[in-house]
Amino acid sequence: MERTLVMLKPGVLQRRIVGEVLSRFERKGLKIAALRLLVLDRAVVEAHYREHAGKEFYEKLLEYTLSGPVILLILEGEDAVFMVRRLVGPTDVREAPPGTIRGDYAYRTRLNIVHASDSPANAEREIALFFTPQDIVTWKDENAPWF
Ligand code: CMP
Repeated sequence: MERTLVMLKPGVLQRRIVGEVLSRFERKGLKIAALRLLVLDRAVVEAHYREHAGKEFYEKLLEYTLSGPVILLILEGEDAVFMVRRLVGPTDVREAPPGTIRGDYAYRTRLNIVHASDSPANAEREIALFFTPQDIVTWKDENAPWF
């Protein structure tokens, strides 16, 4: 089963929409394998967003990500990276269709409210930044037979 990393950015907590955003992933059938609420430090955010270092939006991106608590979660499922990216919608909020999380909740790309890993390799790298193997919970969902 594939795993992917999702970050609910500070705006999600500030706007009190954690439950709504989490429910988008749950109702699709993705399984929560780990979940943390924390305020990140600059070093880990720099490591997480290292591919964007030097871009014109980089400093503002760090500033926003550090502006309050975030929720980090590992979601599990078949093709989880792809499925979660489809639910989240394109990075550019002008392109994000209604029905996607960014399409429904984000007006500015800089404040696009959720991050989701863009490849299985990046998912592994990002998961390792925020979670230890002991944080990841393996559980059965045989009481939800529709999955
Ligand atoms: P995320 O998926 O977290 O990955 C990198 C982030 O950089 C992205 O979401 C946006 O928040 C931000 N970002 C990417 N492109 C732009 C842009 N053109 N202008 C402002 N912010 C951007």
